[in-house]
Amino acid sequence: MNTKNIKILHLDSNHPLLWEQLEKLGFENHQDYTSSKEEIEAKIYDYQGIVIRSRFKINQTFLDKATNLQFIARVGAGLESIDCEYAISKNIHLIAAPEGNSNAVGEHAVGMLLSLMNKLNQANQSVKNGNWLREGHRGHELEGKTVGIIGYGNMGKSFAKKLKGFDVKVLCCDILPNVGDQNAKQVTLEELQQKTDVLSLHIPWTPETDKMVNEQFINAFVKPFWFINTARGKSVITADLVKALQSGKILGAGLDVLEYEKLSFEKLFEGEKPEAFTYLLEAENVLLSPHIAGWTFESHQKLAQVIVDKIKKIYFPIDETAELKRVTGIGGFFFKANDSKRLVEWYGKHLGLKTDQYGSTFWWKDKEGNDCSTQWSPFAADTTYFSPSEKQFMQNFRVENLEALLEKLKQEGVTIVGDFETYDYGKFGWILDPEGNKIELWEPIDSAFQ
Ligand SMILES: NC(=O)c1ccc[n+]([C@@H]2O[C@H](COP(=O)([O-])OP(=O)(O)OC[C@H]3O[C@@H](n4cnc5c(N)ncnc54)[C@H](O)[C@@H]3O)[C@@H](O)[C@H]2O)c1
Repeated sequence: MNTKNIKILHLDSNHPLLWEQLEKLGFENHQDYTSSKEEIEAKIYDYQGIVIRSRFKINQTFLDKATNLQFIARVGAGLESIDCEYAISKNIHLIAAPEGNSNAVGEHAVGMLLSLMNKLNQANQSVKNGNWLREGHRGHELEGKTVGIIGYGNMGKSFAKKLKGFDVKVLCCDILPNVGDQNAKQVTLEELQQKTDVLSLHIPWTPETDKMVNEQFINAFVKPFWFINTARGKSVITADLVKALQSGKILGAGLDVLEYEKLSFEKLFEGEKPEAFTYLLEAENVLLSPHIAGWTFESHQKLAQVIVDKIKKIYFPIDETAELKRVTGIGGFFFKANDSKRLVEWYGKHLGLKTDQYGSTFWWKDKEGNDCSTQWSPFAADTTYFSPSEKQFMQNFRVENLEALLEKLKQEGVTIVGDFETYDYGKFGWILDPEGNKIELWEPIDSAFQ
């Protein structure tokens, strides 16, 4: 496919890998992070693709002017700022990247919950003010509690996965049937309201979820509960939440999103503070963060990678009939060492390996002239990186399409170890051979090392 004629307009800045990898694939990248929406509308006919975070709403007027648009990529979880129905009617591909920040949201929600229940924020402030009040900061334990999740999609599932190991019961409720899994039992909203000690919202903002958490909804919970919202602020009537905090029905609230946020999520309201917001600012059992649950260094990169992968799939569709390339080379050799530091020094001194704390990277070029690398690394003797394999070594193979290969291997009955992971040097997955040797499969982005 000739991507030279495909012009992409980047409307927000993102991780540089997004730009670099699209360029490598042959797309023509342009950026405009500052013009007004009207100015963008005046030139958007010239573009086939848009990459946007949340800068403005993409509505019918905008789409009518984007006469050559083939895709809109939203570098974030959802597409609520886009008139999706209208875009689809114009055959525009819509791309989002919830896989990129779901882990971040899951961890943030757990962090907020533990901090609230253990009064960490209050205790920290109190100690810093010169106090040492232990009884006043006695915490609550999560163990034995029932956690209710409303909206069991990417984020809800990630939160439930993180709760494994806390010995909690996890319930989920969703408008879709059969979404429950090994991490959460799907129940009706009524059952969730009867049993829940902790409520975490993971729903999108829709007409049905707008102002969902109101007085009536809160009062339908049988027990007092902790409340976490990392979804959308407008799903909550803050004044009703405040009433429940005052009455003790809500024991504490962790809010990453607020009713008062602007659509771009970059600002709060302008003007006078609503009374309920002032209460939240002063309440000790309320923990606030500025819409950063999905905003980590890792997700910055993962979001960009997911977007590139999805754009690539549109323009370079995988030929299902073509034979899947499996291993394309040796990616690395890893082994356990009693004193890895000493060994690294020895190999450096006597065999001339250019080593750093991780070992040595051998650079080479493939037959198309691309930069490639192979890694040699001693690991600490007690490393858990090779587990469940008991062996002293681990092989790493280079592959070209990790996700497709893992899927194929799964169908073939090969043991897959854990979920695949994405880093700035590529994607990694793990399998076992019949003797229990762990094999790392690596879809590299070698140029990232340069
Ligand atoms: N704070 C952050 O930084 C951050 C980051 C990522 C996502 N989010 C937000 O998290 C929320 C969830 O995102 P996601 O990627 O998991 O979405 P998703 O579409 O994967 O999952 C949402 C789930 O909610 C369900 N749902 C929809 N309406 C419902 C209703 N009325 N009652 C019960 N269930 C309902 C859907 O069926 C779906 O299963 C969104 O609001 C998203 O914008 C926030």
